[in-house]
Amino acid sequence: MNEENVTFNELQPGTALYDGKYIIERVLGAGGFGITYYARHAKLNKYFAIKEFFINGYCVRNVQHFTILLQGIQDDVYDKYRHKFVEEAQTLAKLDHPGIVKVVDVFDENGTSYIVMPFLSGENLQEVVEKNGKLPYELAVNFMAQVCEALDYCHKRSILHRDVKPANIMITPENRTVLIDFGSAREFVHDKTQSHTAMLTQGYAPPEQYSSVSRKGAYSDIYSIGATFYFTVTGVKPTDAAARLLENLVEPKTINSKLSDTANRTILKAMEIKPENRYQNVDGLMYELTKRKDWRNPVVEKGKKSKGLSIFLIICLLALCGGGVVWYLENQKKAEISARFQENLLQERAEIEARLQEEARQQEETRQHEEEQRRLLSATLNGRVINLRVRLLDENSTYLQPTEGDLDGSVWYMIIDGQAERVSRAPATPPERAFIYSGQMRNGLPHGEGEAKYDDDTTYEGSFQRGLRHGRGIRTFPNGTTYEGEHLEGKAHGRGRQTNTDGSFYDGNWANDLEHGFGRLVDADGNERAGNFENGRMAE
Ligand SMILES: Nc1ncnc2c1ncn2[C@@H]1O[C@H](COP(=O)(O)OP(=O)(O)O)[C@@H](O)[C@H]1O
Ligand SMILES: [Mg+2]
Repeated sequence: MNEENVTFNELQPGTALYDGKYIIERVLGAGGFGITYYARHAKLNKYFAIKEFFINGYCVRNVQHFTILLQGIQDDVYDKYRHKFVEEAQTLAKLDHPGIVKVVDVFDENGTSYIVMPFLSGENLQEVVEKNGKLPYELAVNFMAQVCEALDYCHKRSILHRDVKPANIMITPENRTVLIDFGSAREFVHDKTQSHTAMLTQGYAPPEQYSSVSRKGAYSDIYSIGATFYFTVTGVKPTDAAARLLENLVEPKTINSKLSDTANRTILKAMEIKPENRYQNVDGLMYELTKRKDWRNPVVEKGKKSKGLSIFLIICLLALCGGGVVWYLENQKKAEISARFQENLLQERAEIEARLQEEARQQEETRQHEEEQRRLLSATLNGRVINLRVRLLDENSTYLQPTEGDLDGSVWYMIIDGQAERVSRAPATPPERAFIYSGQMRNGLPHGEGEAKYDDDTTYEGSFQRGLRHGRGIRTFPNGTTYEGEHLEGKAHGRGRQTNTDGSFYDGNWANDLEHGFGRLVDADGNERAGNFENGRMAE
């Protein structure tokens, strides 16, 4: 193979970028407009996340030079989007907030552009929920408060993120949230209709984002924040905004019955279809959720039970040695986490076992079904059949398709020398070799007494041999003419009588479907001529 032609999409580990400054270690994620890598700074030995502009489906990579080749996209269109990508870096560079990822560097190489960001250890929220299931309520609210704080910071600077979703929220090992992926972010003038390119993530994008010209404001990110919160407290991705025209959004409380009415109501209001019915800023949303003006400090909305418990704990705290209680609580928490972990593990194992059992059951079912089909098929090849579709190819091969009975009628069976094999289709044959057959079979061919309706509308009732008319039988042609008599290898041969619709007939000898030998011609009025025929003509 010519190496020049081999292409792969992502840069391979060990690839150097920016004059050897960064060395690619592995891929972190790949989306529609970019590939994000984990990379090492060669001199500082520090790690960074580098995002490469790469339009999935329209870019391929030259394996030798790492450059990007365009496929099915004009240079100027590509450059327009690449420019928007660099704008992501410029948008980010304007922001300075601990909850928003920073830009360290931007550079062009390999015919594309790169953004360098500090590498955030941890996982994104999507992965966290996928791994652990829905999060404990307090933790989910804590994450929301942090994300809202960062979004509030953006909104106050007239910047919309426009792609808030679990996969774009990194969770550090210290449970700090960091918003990433500002690839869709745009500056906005509140409530003014602006033409923003419609790029969206189903389930988290608000309905107005499906239109490139509708009004957008902070309430658009509010929808996505509501949807993200929905996911973190239920473990289920909410119904897509567009689909909500046809099906109702399942209330989060229906999925997680422990959810408070306040939380349920807040999520639904944040996710209202009409922007004007939603919270208009994150402050409104977080205040409603926590009932606290200072929601920016990590917040917890506790139910009645836990309030009772905390009062009890305060009394304990006063009555007992403080340190002891803290120790007790720590251990309690650890025990709780480890119990939850165990429970998840057991549940996972049970699910895997159930899945394996189900797979084994399905395999056995398939095996039994195939065996039954083989049994039915061999009965078909050597027995009586009803309405079997037949296509004769040559002396040794036939294609059969059952139209009745228990055999799978959606497939054809190719029969070669009496052996059957399932195939998805049969080759076309001339109409006189394609017919529907009911009658006796031998080795997969009509053989013995049977009847056939041919694709050219001729019918035959009589004797068959190796798929062909052979011996005595009656053939009826589409115009009403009939032939009753002997056949050889599909043709009228031997003694037979052809009767026309006006009553005239020929009665005599045949060869190769033609009058041949002695015979009588009788016209419609009963006048008779007898004589010797040769290839369809009466000899002089
Ligand atoms: N700075 C970073 N540190 C660590 N991981 C990151 C960083 N940036 C992105 N990632 C990971 O890569 C994934 C894709 O990055 P993202 O910027 O969201 O690009 P995309 O456009 O492909 O969604 C993220 O979901 C996250 O898991
Ligand atoms: Mg992303």
